[in-house]
Amino acid sequence: MYKIKKEKKNHSMLNKEVLNLINEQIWLENNASFYYLKLSIDFNDKGFSGISNFFLNQSHEERDHMIKLISYIMEKDCSPSLPQYNFMEDKEETFNVLSHFENSLYNEKEVTMSINKIVSKCKEVGDYTTENFIQWFVIEQREEENKFKEIIDNLKIIGDDGLGLYHLNKELGIISPPTI
Ligand code: FEO
Repeated sequence: MYKIKKEKKNHSMLNKEVLNLINEQIWLENNASFYYLKLSIDFNDKGFSGISNFFLNQSHEERDHMIKLISYIMEKDCSPSLPQYNFMEDKEETFNVLSHFENSLYNEKEVTMSINKIVSKCKEVGDYTTENFIQWFVIEQREEENKFKEIIDNLKIIGDDGLGLYHLNKELGIISPPTI
């Protein structure tokens, strides 16, 4: 029987530097997903089931972002670099509700800077298709940063008030239903 020879994908449809930056982004999204998963476990351990669900949803979202980037690279007939799934930087943090959210916002800002780097590179090399694709992430990052900022503001108002924390935990649980 006649066999169709599989052609090797060797003519990249993505600029090498753009591809490298997207691969770095995949790594960051994977890390964020694991970081939020860890926070989900930590908050659950401390009895904050609502906040735990919030971070579980965040973890799912970050994984979706990673898949979105991987799919785009494949669409362009290139091969994405898969991050190590069990990799997690040593994030030994003392449990503190406010600082966990502040660290999350800090990480989101890092992600935003990384996304901006991709946009700049796309402009530099004239890759308008990828620039258009990555704009989705620009909007997403604006929303993510605002979401964390709002929760941090509320936590600062709450301070050590247990009742305030009880309500925040409940509220975040309502907007983050279990995803299983
Ligand atoms: Fe996908 Fe929150 O960065």
